[in-house]
Amino acid sequence: MPVHSISPAALKRALSGGETEQIRSWCAALEAGGVLYFPETPLPISADDLDTLLGQQQTESKLHKNIAYKPKSDELTGVDAKTSPGASVHQVHDVMRRYSQTVERFLTRFLAPYRQRWVLDYASYRPLEEKGRDLALRRRNDLLHTDAFPTRPTRGWRILRFFQNINPTRTRDWVVGEPFSNVVGSFAPGKLAMPRADNILARGGKQLATATGLAKLVPQWKRTPYDEFMMQLHNAMKEDTEFQDTCAKEYVEFAPGSSWMVYTETVPHAVLAGQYALEQTFLVDPAALVTPESAPVAVLEKMAGARLV
Ligand SMILES: [Fe+2]
Repeated sequence: MPVHSISPAALKRALSGGETEQIRSWCAALEAGGVLYFPETPLPISADDLDTLLGQQQTESKLHKNIAYKPKSDELTGVDAKTSPGASVHQVHDVMRRYSQTVERFLTRFLAPYRQRWVLDYASYRPLEEKGRDLALRRRNDLLHTDAFPTRPTRGWRILRFFQNINPTRTRDWVVGEPFSNVVGSFAPGKLAMPRADNILARGGKQLATATGLAKLVPQWKRTPYDEFMMQLHNAMKEDTEFQDTCAKEYVEFAPGSSWMVYTETVPHAVLAGQYALEQTFLVDPAALVTPESAPVAVLEKMAGARLV
């Protein structure tokens, strides 16, 4: 069972400091491809903030699929006066800033073994109904996939996401597949070429592209061999009908008012239905893990016999 349920009482005991081992074992479960599930979110949203978020009427648009908040620059995207008729853009911005800070505070305590060796990435709000969305294949959320950022390579850092179903009445319905170390072998070598270390020429070219700013125009030039492979794996999974139909998977319904977290770059996941979810992303240093050997960069480098970042 990849879902580890954490009750409010167990969380309280662990956070009170008496159960450091318990927290380490939750981290290890997360790193092994598990989902940590809080049936009752440890971070309840105030009634006012909830009203603001549920009032958002995001229209299906090719430009924005989510409302995004960038903590570093305190910037909000994906909201304008049209999509936010009830609340002002300013209000939504405040709610997202507050949410991002609250999750960061909580995970600083909860993920104590990582000693904050992470980067706080974007937060997002997903107000659209996931069921029946009309998206291009590679952008579909209802097909199992592992996450990769096309324009922001992580260079081996892990993508940890904390989610919250703020829908007052409906579950958010996911499918979760087997962890990376189990599934990567059914794609590479074979359907995908094994990643290979850059040669001197490629390394020089990428350095030049970064130094001159050209890498901003052509995202591939920013990618390490690791990032390139992870991007291809994301696409290959979504395009592989046989994998979608036959791989081992589990259906999970996240209750209204629940939270969960998962390393989404290694756990194949899909969203089948649900509306109104919050999410905060962290990029975690693979060296900070309780089980660093489980990091996808470590697994791939072992398979390839070469440095990939
Ligand atoms: Fe995803």
